[in-house]
Amino acid sequence: MKTTDKITVPHLIEMKKQGDKIACLTAYDWLFASLLDQAGLDVILVGDSAAMVFSGHETTLPISLDEMVYHSRCVSRGVKRALIVADMPFLSFQISPEETLRNAGRFLKEGGAEAVKIEGGMAVAETIRRLTGAGIPVMGHLGLTPQSIKAFGGYRVRGKKRDESAELVRDAKILERAGVFSIVLEKIPATLAKKITAGVSVPTIGIGAGPSCDGQILVTPDMLGLFEKFKPKFVRQYAKLGPAVVDAVSRYAADVKKGRYPSREESY
Ligand code: KIV
Repeated sequence: MKTTDKITVPHLIEMKKQGDKIACLTAYDWLFASLLDQAGLDVILVGDSAAMVFSGHETTLPISLDEMVYHSRCVSRGVKRALIVADMPFLSFQISPEETLRNAGRFLKEGGAEAVKIEGGMAVAETIRRLTGAGIPVMGHLGLTPQSIKAFGGYRVRGKKRDESAELVRDAKILERAGVFSIVLEKIPATLAKKITAGVSVPTIGIGAGPSCDGQILVTPDMLGLFEKFKPKFVRQYAKLGPAVVDAVSRYAADVKKGRYPSREESY
């Protein structure tokens, strides 16, 4: 595949077959989405992590469908190549099949997304079947699913206990049969992620799930060192933009206060 080719759902399945790793990150706005796309990512996820890293909430639960559609619309204006996947927020896919279909459809009709992501296993299989039946590609999400944080009681690694790990293997197969085109595996042991990856024909995308997944995703402000409230062990920081921004802004403020900015050359 040429790097300029538009990435589609079938491309991702083909990438797994060819053993080509899939690089994914999150975006919430036009500016970052266009920078990420220029860098050659395969998938840009409009994650509901927007609730935390964009809007400042403690969890992903409060973000609304309207807010997610807005973020998706902004991101889609900046992306030419990557596949755009939008997260269905908490309670946007649980109330009724009709409402779920209408909500998912908004991401494609209004948000410029090309697929949606839904958290959960067996409980959402029927929902996934209905969406894929309507032509809406669905990415699954298993393991530490942040929308269930109140039920889990914390952010611990999932799938360490035998029953939990068996359930995740079973759920991955259920999602595959329901028609997902890929599955995010979040914060599970690397050995379990390897087993799940070998057991399904669709690509797995890991986040804190070790090196054997077919692709990897991180929350962009985490990997750029912009979000520093907490740093999970699996995050690799490729830059320290938070301190760089604070430094640039304090130098600007000092220049303004001392009358060093603007200069004559920067004036009309
Ligand atoms: O919302 C998000 O950013 C996500 C990724 C962490 C996979 O779901």
